[in-house]
Order: sequence, then structure tokens, then C-alpha cells
Amino acid sequence: MSDVSLSEKPVEELTLEEAAAELERLSAEIAHHDRLYHGEDNPEITDAAYDALKNRNLAIEARYPDLVRDDSPSRRVGATPSAAFAEVRHSRPMLSLDNLFTDEDVLDFVEQVRRFLGLPADRIPVFTAEPKIDGLSLSIRYEKGRLAVAATRGDGLTGENVTANVRTIADIPERLPAGVPDVVEVRGEVYMGRGDFFALNERMREETGKVFANPRNAAAGSLRQLDPAITARRPLRFFAYAWGDLPRLADTQYDTVRLFETWGFKTNPLMVRCATVDELVAHYRRIEADRASLDYDIDGVVYKVDDLALQERLGFRSRSPRWATAHKFPAERAFTTLKDIEIQVGRTGALTPVAKLEPVTVGGVVVSNATLHNEDYIKGIGTSGQPIREGRDIRVGDTVIVQRAGDVIPQIVDVVLDKRPPDAEPYAFPTLCPRCGSHAVRDVNEKTGRVDAVRRCTGGLVCPAQQVEKLKHFASRHAFDIEGLGDKQIEFFHALEDDNLSIREPADIFTLKAREAGSFRRLKDFPGFGATSVKNLFDAIDARRRIALNRLIFGLGIRHVGETTAKLLARAYGTWDHFAEEMQAAADRSSDAWRGLNAIDGIGEVVADAVVDFFAEAHNLEAVARLLNEIEPEPMEAPVAVDSPVAGKTVVFTGSLEKMTRDEAKATAERLGAKVAGSVSKKTDLVVAGPGAGSKLAKATEFGIEVIDEDAWLALVEGL
Ligand code: IVH
Repeated sequence: MSDVSLSEKPVEELTLEEAAAELERLSAEIAHHDRLYHGEDNPEITDAAYDALKNRNLAIEARYPDLVRDDSPSRRVGATPSAAFAEVRHSRPMLSLDNLFTDEDVLDFVEQVRRFLGLPADRIPVFTAEPKIDGLSLSIRYEKGRLAVAATRGDGLTGENVTANVRTIADIPERLPAGVPDVVEVRGEVYMGRGDFFALNERMREETGKVFANPRNAAAGSLRQLDPAITARRPLRFFAYAWGDLPRLADTQYDTVRLFETWGFKTNPLMVRCATVDELVAHYRRIEADRASLDYDIDGVVYKVDDLALQERLGFRSRSPRWATAHKFPAERAFTTLKDIEIQVGRTGALTPVAKLEPVTVGGVVVSNATLHNEDYIKGIGTSGQPIREGRDIRVGDTVIVQRAGDVIPQIVDVVLDKRPPDAEPYAFPTLCPRCGSHAVRDVNEKTGRVDAVRRCTGGLVCPAQQVEKLKHFASRHAFDIEGLGDKQIEFFHALEDDNLSIREPADIFTLKAREAGSFRRLKDFPGFGATSVKNLFDAIDARRRIALNRLIFGLGIRHVGETTAKLLARAYGTWDHFAEEMQAAADRSSDAWRGLNAIDGIGEVVADAVVDFFAEAHNLEAVARLLNEIEPEPMEAPVAVDSPVAGKTVVFTGSLEKMTRDEAKATAERLGAKVAGSVSKKTDLVVAGPGAGSKLAKATEFGIEVIDEDAWLALVEGL
């Protein structure tokens, strides 16, 4: 039977041998399409055809569980390892590189190599030159063409086994082409692209309030996750540039790396061969000039002797090879003076100190503002109370060191005490909001007992700074997305004294047209506005009178509620009224509403507290009520799980449950597309009654609603 007909044979008709052959074929084929799709952004088949391959693989695995392969596509994402990372002893040490900083250092390095090899003074070997990627190194071992073990560098001799996580990285092939040696160890750098890093941080800021300091940390943190499903959602990439255990397959470094490319690895396009020191330095300058336009961080250029026979002769020092070195870029830091410290007040009242600097060029960019993070940072105290900068504080007038790190916002990293003016005073962080004069306080975290690093204005909506920032957020792209109402316009409308034209709270945006119509002064007469732009603005505002529920929730600017959280809440509650009702009920921390909120996958206690706190403030409720007079939030349909017997049904749990908690039962029901209600009505489809069920059970019987016990419920949802 030919392969073509085998690939079309119905799963039920496959023999054991045929099933094994099909699983092998599907594993390779799916890996191939994964590579095209994720790695090259160039899929060969439609999503539907891809899904069909995955489904066939799953169907065969379901029929023949014993045949599930180590490299199965179904294991590539979401397999959970049983314990933390095991140790892997490297077959050959993973070494580090010596660093060079100047052109002269390069000449010295090349000279040392020449002398070591006993070459004549006018002959140097060819070198490769390539970017030094700022990620973390990884060694991947293939046995008989299949990915067997992947390990981090660790101490160079022993690393961590991160195989399950590495299987989720699309740049790393699961299988190598036929004909490769039995044992192949490819090494290289795992990294995260800068764009991906920013997007990830945005998501993390919303979901956890914590962010990674730079792409390198993000890559390391993502690779060393205990749950590979988390790694799978992180956009990790990989460049192959070295190897461990590997028979000689080519004569040069360059050709070996090229070979890796034909095996399906990504290699860096900026690797070149250089025959002279001038060429090495010229390539270094080129890469340095291109640095800002690359989508990933690099911190230098690596030079390697190209000829592998010469590499072997040169060998190693204790921790680094003699045949390779790193020419580092100068750190992107500069000295300048701190002219002033300005306090900005954010949407949630956070007081952020911003350094006003004598403008200075840092890594090719002029910097005149830098963050000072918070009050403690200025004092020389770190986030856990430990001294930073050896306890040196930062004062206006100081000479400071500014650094532009991977995360764009420049920061002050140190001060030069020798240059401190004699009259410089320690900075007194304001305890009153500089914008509204309300007290600015540092909360104590009830759980940890620690004082919050951030001082916040207590003025709430009374504070003009918070008002403006909240309005900017409300009108911004991911919230109400009102065209023509950008930050500048918000500031303009907020500053207007005229009550007919000013915007102080969200509802004012929607009443503007009517107020303006009755106003003595007309908007079209203001500089910067014409009749057309006023009409366009009113049209843009009108276009948002119907708004998706998640955009409304996000737009309110509730602390810790970012776009993702807003979507979760909108999906869980469906309508504004239901959401608002439940959030007010949740003020009672022993209520079903509070438990329900916390049971939403992705909502933690910090977020839950923040949402409930928002709804506990009368002035918030009043402002929202005024807004709802003007707009109509669209209900959000809960996504209905396919093939679930309870999808779209309304379920009520009553009585005591013995095998699961109420929250768990509710979460399962919701995951399967059911709506969980607290009381029985004619709309109820199913009642799950445990022992002690009282009036709800009676009502269900009265309405003729189906009633089942806990075991029947479990049987119904088992395996879903
Ligand atoms: S070659 C035996 N090439 O730099 C030498 N390393 O400081 C093997 N790195 O641990 C390393 N980009 O993580 C090499 N193109 C590149 C590199 C590179 C980044 C890292 C690697 C290594 C560290 C050494």
C-alpha cells in the first residue's frame, strides 16, 4: 500500500503498524508546518488543512495510546513535567568568551592567534564575525535525528533540563533530516524579540503587575517555566551558532553553521567571513550602526577562527576558547547633570519622580528625561529595603549616570559623589499631591505588611491630574477609541472654564454636542477647530454610543484592570448590569459574588479587590450612571464550548457538594459554556442538588426542571 492511500485511510481501519507509521509521518509533517508558520511566517497549507493533520494525529493517539510518540505534536505544547528541572551534564563544557573593548584589543587578539599557530607575520587566519545575541545559551541534543535533551548553560559543566519547554519553540526543529549523525548537539542562543518583549510586558503588567526588565530576562524567565504551556505562549526564538558533540561535517565554522540552516535552524544573517583586522572592525561598526534597527538585543560582535582544524589546534583556556572572542559594544550610558526632579501624577494617582536632565546623547539618542522610579529609589533604597548604589541618594544638582536599557525609558543608575555641589540637599519627596494638594500616602500592603513603594494622591477624581489621565485613558485606542479626542484635545477640553464646553468626566464627552449647541461660544471659533473638525469629532463621539462591554470596563481605568482582565470580566458577566450587581454584592467577602469573581480563571485577589473597591465608591457609581445615560454597552456572549452537554444552559447548584467545591463546580460549568445562576427560575435548565438542598430543589420540582445529583453531574462533565 502506498503512503498516499495510507494517509487517507480512516483512523478506525488502521492496523497497529499502519497507525505507528502514520504517527511518525504526522509528527514530521506537523513539525514542518509549525516551522513554516511560526518561524518563517510563510505557511504552505491552510489553517483548516493544518487542523486536519493535528486532529488525525489526536484521533490515532486516542485509538492507540501506547503508540504516542515522545515527539508527538500533541506533546509539543502543554505537557507538564513531573518535577522541577533535572540536571544535565554537558558532553562538552559550555564555555564563555573573553571580552574585548577597543580596536587595539582586536589587533592584539588576532596577533595572539597568529603567534599561537606559528603563522608568518603577514598571514592571519580567516575569522567569522557575527552579532553577540543578548539571550541565554542552550544546548540541544538530537539522537537518531530526534530532539532528545535540551539544557541551559548552568555553570558550564551542568545545566538544567528544559527539554519540554524547548519543544514549544518553533525555531527549534523536533526532528532533523535523514542522514544526520546519530548524535548531534546544536548550541545557540534563546532570545526574545524586542517587539515581542514589549507586547509581553504589556500583557504581564495587566495580568500580574510585574514586568521583565529586559528581553534577556524575559527570555530566561520564559524558558525556565515549570509549565511548558506557559513557555509555549511566550514568543521565544533561537539562533544556532555553535555545537557540542558533533562529528566534523564541514571544514569551517561558517559552513557548519550553514549546514545547521539546511537542517531547519535559524542562523544569524549578519555572520560574515573576514580576512583582515580592518574587515573585522568594519563589520563590527556596521553591526553597531544597525543595532538599533534590529528587532533583538545584541551586546557585541563575536569573532571566531573559521578553519575548524585551526580551532582544534588553538583549543581552550580554562573557561574560554582561544579561537573566539567577544568585541563588546560600549555600554549605553552617559554622564549629565540632574537639573530638577518633576513629579508626575498618573491615572491612579501614583506620584512618579522624573529626572529633568541636561540633554545628553546616550547610544545615539538625545535624552533629557529619565525615570527615578519612586521615592525609595532616590534615597538609595531598593524594593526589598536593601541599599542600592551602596546607599548613595540622588540630589538635584548631582552629576548622574543615565542608562538607556532594553526597556527604552532611560533611567538614572548612579551618581558621582565627588561632583556633588556643596549646597545640594537631600530630595524631599512631596507628601501632598503637587496637582491638587490632597495628601499623598504610601499604603501598607495588608498581606505582606510592607509599605508600598509608590506614593499616591488620595484626591481621586478631585485631582485634576487624575481626571485628565483617566479621560485620556477612557478615549484611548483600546478603550473608547474616539478619533479626534487624543491627549492634547483632552487637555484642551479639561482646561476650559466654560461649563458648556468643558470635559471633566467621561459622561461630559457624550453630552458635549448638546451643551455646545446651547452655548454662547461655539467650538468652531476656537483656534485649531473648524466647522468640519467639530462635526467630525461629534460624529466620532456618536459612533461610540454603543460600545463593547469589555471596552467600557477597560475604559473606566479601574486599577489593575487592563485589556485582558476587562475581557475576562466582560465574558464572565455578559452585561453591564449583571457585572455591576455582582461587584457590589462582592463587597461582602463571604458572598457567592466574591467567590465567583475570584473563581474566574485569570483573576487574582489583587484585581478582585481593586474592582470591588471601585464599585464601593459612591462617586464612581454616580459617574458611571451619568455615563450610562448617554451610552449603551453591548452584552458580551460567553463563548460556548463545542460538544458540551451544558453549553448555553443555565445551571443552579444547591445543597452541599462533597467531591468538589462550589467554586470548582461553577468554574467547570462556565468553562463548558453554561451560565451559573444563584437562584432557580423558569429560565433554569438544570439543578445540581446535593444533600440538604431546600427551597431551590422544591422550586425546581415545581417548575419541572431537570434535577441531578453530584455524581450525575460529574459523570456528565467527565473528561470535558
Ligand atoms: S560562541 C565556545 N556566538 O555569549 C564559544 N556565543 O560570553 C561558544 N553568545 O555563553 C559561544 N551570541 O550565550 C557565541 N554568536 C554567538 C553568541 C554567543 C551570544 C553568548 C553565549 C555565550 C556567551 C559567552
